[in-house]
Amino acid sequence: MLIRDARFLTSNSRAELCPAPTLPEYAFIGRSNVGKSSLINMLTGRNGLAKTSSSPGKTQLINHFLINEEWYLVDLPGYGYAKVSKTSRAEWARMINFYLRHRPNLMCVCVLIDSRHPPQAADLEFMEKLGEEGIPFVMIFTKIDKQSTAQTKALVGTYLSKMQEIWDELPRYFQTSAETSQGRDEVLAFIADVNKQWGGVEAALNA
Ligand code: GTP
Ligand code: MG
Repeated sequence: MLIRDARFLTSNSRAELCPAPTLPEYAFIGRSNVGKSSLINMLTGRNGLAKTSSSPGKTQLINHFLINEEWYLVDLPGYGYAKVSKTSRAEWARMINFYLRHRPNLMCVCVLIDSRHPPQAADLEFMEKLGEEGIPFVMIFTKIDKQSTAQTKALVGTYLSKMQEIWDELPRYFQTSAETSQGRDEVLAFIADVNKQWGGVEAALNA
């Protein structure tokens, strides 16, 4: 997919205030600092479109970007950041859960996972919840430039084995680097493919 146009639309804390659900939408979620905002910049080829930071907790709100006037990309705040208070964590959960359940145009959630770490409970639990709610998702293993291909392969293998203990069928997964743009074509091709289902989803929404 060629990215002709990518622009920031809105930031807000409530699903009701998000742009009208008239286009297919893809949300990026995952632990704080996993590289959600960086991946959005890499995919769109616009450095600085989504705000990134080396300190976790940079993204605090639901951020909508409009791509090619055709689909929405959403940057969400990260979970699992230890320094966040219990109250903020509960607020995060409320905001995100409401968003995930009430966005009728949400085609797929992209769950980002740092390719360097062994499976973490927070990620496994989050994906289990998506499964229970029937929300489609894929996994994106990030930061693969930070280690050798063999190391990534081993860690992704461990992760998939762990997933197999929980899931009958494994979700689709991608491996990316915001530094080298590896995985860019694959993720964009996936989105282009899912976008083709939008006509059917839209018809069902309007029925
Ligand atoms: P929050 O908004 O705080 O939840 O974080 P985030 O998931 O949006 O992470 P962000 O994109 O801000 O990236 C966090 C840090 O990781 C930044 O210092 C990025 O430069 C770095 N980073 C992200 N992706 C990659 C990658 O693919 N390779 C390398 N080497 N660094 C990366
Ligand atoms: Mg961010």
